[in-house]
Amino acid sequence: MKIKNICCIGAGYVGGPTMAVIALKCPDIKVTVVDLNKERIAAWNGPLDTLPVYEPGLTEVVAEARGRNLFFSTEVDKAIEEAEMIFIAVNTPTKTKGEGAGMAADLRYVEACAKNIAQVAKTDKVVIEKSTLPVRTAEKIKEILDREGKGVHFEILSNPEFLAEGTAIQDLFKSDRVLIGGYETESGQKAVQTLVDIYANWIPKVKIFTTNVWSSELAKLASNAMLAQRISSINSLSALCEKTGANINELSEAIGMDHRIGQKFLKASVGFGGSCFQKDILNLVYLCRHYGLDEVAEYWHQVIKINNYQKDRFAQKIIDYFGGDLTGKRIAILGWAFKANTNDSRESPAIYFAEKLFKTGAILEIYDPMVSKESIFSDIDFYWEASKPKDITTGISVLNSLNKLDLSIDAVTILTEWEAFKRHDFSKTIVFDGRGILSSSNYSIGKG
Ligand code: UDX
Ligand code: ADP
Repeated sequence: MKIKNICCIGAGYVGGPTMAVIALKCPDIKVTVVDLNKERIAAWNGPLDTLPVYEPGLTEVVAEARGRNLFFSTEVDKAIEEAEMIFIAVNTPTKTKGEGAGMAADLRYVEACAKNIAQVAKTDKVVIEKSTLPVRTAEKIKEILDREGKGVHFEILSNPEFLAEGTAIQDLFKSDRVLIGGYETESGQKAVQTLVDIYANWIPKVKIFTTNVWSSELAKLASNAMLAQRISSINSLSALCEKTGANINELSEAIGMDHRIGQKFLKASVGFGGSCFQKDILNLVYLCRHYGLDEVAEYWHQVIKINNYQKDRFAQKIIDYFGGDLTGKRIAILGWAFKANTNDSRESPAIYFAEKLFKTGAILEIYDPMVSKESIFSDIDFYWEASKPKDITTGISVLNSLNKLDLSIDAVTILTEWEAFKRHDFSKTIVFDGRGILSSSNYSIGKG
């Protein structure tokens, strides 16, 4: 089957950039990205410098494909009806209520998509899981589609996204691998082939790996868990370095020079953040417990525990430096995004760090080159515990430029490795960054 129309449900950090690249590389396919969020769609259709997702290279891709074969719309039903292939790229946060709360993935948005597709589809569809999902979710989606559908045939594929924010466009252009999981039936394998043909427009065939559905679903969770495990491993060792006089940067370089280990994802930090790692590991832990694999669950849970320990440890270091009380101390928090080159702050260590300092009496001055003041206050509102005072704005200000930072401040803390921070002269202040280093001169630690 030759695909002429693709629909993607969810115009977020995954759906937006992924579909923009598919549209760019497959000019003969009409790609429509739909979302219930009107503001988000309006922003995707608006000026290129205010797209809802900040990613280096994204504006160029959208500029070329938008209006040609890439469309953003709120008309979900129409796009579903038109398409032969539908990607589900909606959010799958950790459940906050009910069975598995705090651990399992909340699948209500995915299930709502499946119901929507079932009710609208008048022709056969290939439905693709793009969002990260627990293993065996395809079964649930299939059940909904078959139960509520109007007699048409649905084929489910798993095609997890491996892009990292900040390098999403490069990751999509030159993926290490594209993973496509399908049912081991004749129609399942045909559907796999239609998706292989799309990616083959720009990805070498050797990098397109096809598997059964369950391996593909689990590979995404497992990949993220392994990456996060490396960070927790090096972060745990940073604590030991501080006790023994070993230098964590040297340690990380020395370990990474062994080609069996490699250098990537061995950078000590204030802890990992982002919408994926914590959520996916919790999901993995939940799955393991569900299957009675308690030892395996505990092994992976430890990756999260070390991450929480690291975030807490960094905040405590600043508190200890000032003798256990930050009352009246003015502390700058530089960086709010969970990593450089993104405007995404979901699960950013800065949020938890700021909360701990604020609770200990600090007056906070926050700056991030890409995260807006509104987003910062909305994160505080969403993530901080109930203990926050009614009017947080009295103790917290958000700067709109790094040059507004008053260097007579008590301390500067660097939470995100933005390039701009490495170039800035902080020579008159005390600087803390995430690698267990305290500098009272120029912040040159992160350079290079
Ligand atoms: C991750 C995976 O890398 C990607 O493949 C998957 O599709 C989605 O989840 P992302 O969360 O966007 O991507 O960013 P990533 O670059 O993995 O960084 C995650 C966090 O780990 C960030 O907070 C980053 O600062 C931190 N990190 C990363 C470290 O602390 N040390 C490192 O060495 C690398
Ligand atoms: P991700 O990082 O996985 O892309 P985001 O939260 O950035 O997650 O984006 C997910 C998008 O999916 C949101 O913009 C949300 O409005 C959209 N969405 C969720 N459920 C539905 C639905 N049933 N129909 C259409 N869009 C949806």
